[in-house]
Amino acid sequence: MTAATTAPDYVKNKKLAAWVAEVAQLTQPERIVWCDGSQAEYDRLCAEMVASGMLIKLNEKKRPGCFLARSDPDDVARMEDRTFVCSKNKEDAGPNNNWVAPDEMRATLTKISDGCMRGRTMYVIPFSMGPLGSHISHIGVELTDSPYVVVSMRVMTRIGRAVLDQLADGFFVPCLHSVGAPLQPGEKDVVWPSNKQHKFICHFPDEKLIWSFGSGYGGNALLGKKCFALRIASIMAREQGWLAEHMLILGIQPPGGKKHYIAAAFPSACGKTNLAMLIPPKELVGWKVTTIGEDIAWIKPGKDGRLYAINPEAGAFGVAPGTSEFTNPNCLAALNKNTIFTNVAMTPDGDVWWEGLSQTPPMNLTDWQGKSWDPDGDKPAAHPNARFTVAASQIPCIDPQWEDPAGVPISAFMFGGRRTTTVPLVTEAKDWTHGVYMAATMASETTAASVGKMGVVRRDPFAMLPFCGYHFGDYFNHWLKVGKSLTKEPKIFAVNWFRRDEHGKFMWPGFGDNMRVLKWIIERCEGKGGAAETPVGMMPRFEDIELKGIAGFSKKAFDELTRVDRDLWKAEVKDHERLFGELTARMPAEMIEQRRQLEQAL
Ligand code: OXD
Ligand code: MN
Repeated sequence: MTAATTAPDYVKNKKLAAWVAEVAQLTQPERIVWCDGSQAEYDRLCAEMVASGMLIKLNEKKRPGCFLARSDPDDVARMEDRTFVCSKNKEDAGPNNNWVAPDEMRATLTKISDGCMRGRTMYVIPFSMGPLGSHISHIGVELTDSPYVVVSMRVMTRIGRAVLDQLADGFFVPCLHSVGAPLQPGEKDVVWPSNKQHKFICHFPDEKLIWSFGSGYGGNALLGKKCFALRIASIMAREQGWLAEHMLILGIQPPGGKKHYIAAAFPSACGKTNLAMLIPPKELVGWKVTTIGEDIAWIKPGKDGRLYAINPEAGAFGVAPGTSEFTNPNCLAALNKNTIFTNVAMTPDGDVWWEGLSQTPPMNLTDWQGKSWDPDGDKPAAHPNARFTVAASQIPCIDPQWEDPAGVPISAFMFGGRRTTTVPLVTEAKDWTHGVYMAATMASETTAASVGKMGVVRRDPFAMLPFCGYHFGDYFNHWLKVGKSLTKEPKIFAVNWFRRDEHGKFMWPGFGDNMRVLKWIIERCEGKGGAAETPVGMMPRFEDIELKGIAGFSKKAFDELTRVDRDLWKAEVKDHERLFGELTARMPAEMIEQRRQLEQAL
């Protein structure tokens, strides 16, 4: 049996009604459900998933309203090698994307999607990225055959009838998702359906279409996040003169002073969530930090010549391992209730656990695959990419303005990677163009959570390598152009919390102590903080940064942490040259000139 495909009366968007019917005809779901976004709908879907085994209800006393999902062991992370940008011209996708011609990819996807939702429900999820009605927000509609995706999208975005009303007959980004696991009549479903043979996460820039097949996990399936809010939005942003960035946004208020907002880009696994929810050290009396967003920022120029940002998401889909009372107490508090955990470990009394949550693991844990966990074995209890999905409104330090449709004015951009050597604690760009150069040449060392070998330096311009939906050369040009259009452009800073000494020990305490660097940045924005010029940019001197309270942190340690090693930097510039070489034809002349100047300064 397949579903009737007529849209409900209240659906005014003809394109949407036609698209849903077209997809239903291809994928042949058993029924179609138009999601209203209500709590009752969420509760009903969670109850159905508990009954099917896809969700486990956690201890209601310890974690009220919380659930645990366990994914297929082959479906545990974003898959960069299965992610494609299918622009008409290959050059437009750039060397930073996998490319297949749109017609060819469409043909492949159409073939494998024939009947792919058989025996399942197709959910229609109208969603808004950003506060409903904000001029910075945009609307998408996800079609999915995964109820886990529906409940996750309700946490991560604004979904339902109100979005359809807002959409009316306007533009939306169509996002088609299937786990690619049709059910034969009478066939019993598995706990986490996915497609072992085919996985595709595809973006069609010309139609602004997203089509994802075969995976039910995170960024592969919650299409509002990386697929829409970054890859497709980056393309829309270029066409329309704004910025869609892999950035957290935080508010910082000096004692008795005016609040500033900073947007900061870091590659995956560099502690963005921790930085976004930072608690200042007690020595910085009166400084307050609030969170607007922890992963993505949409930023548009305002009439006053400044940039204004919103967090397009409504929740956090964060990595659980490493989150603790020490690293991020605000985040931990957010996870006390109404949270969907995926691939974490479970205690005998139905609570959760992951590596780093406590020094000693509780007894008798069940691991992320549902097996009894051996604390003396070499396997972790939680998957390293285990996640929590939680509403932003539950974050204790959420900024009162976080849903302001006007966005918040950005005072500074910050770019950082994980670098053992070379890159100093903090550097201020001389101007916008120099800042764009610093961001374009940033890099990070790979960790266990990212694909490939550990500790390899990977250039990750603007922390957008897996997320920029078009050619990086064009992207750098776009940033230069946006800068020129502003009268009050934000200052730009590069940071590195991860430098190590010759014994391999981290030289900077990080976490809450990063506030000391943020304080200097705010002072620089207010024209107050002192700095010295170096070949790589402006840097604080020992006396410019508040270091009181960091045990044993001497001037010598500070000098080492901020030292510019000319030999290492010369090698660094060679690697910039290699990156630019890959982007040759579309590399802005200003960037090449910046590299020449840096080389000369060294
Ligand atoms: C994320 C990522 O999950 O950047 O946010 O990988
Ligand atoms: Mn991210």
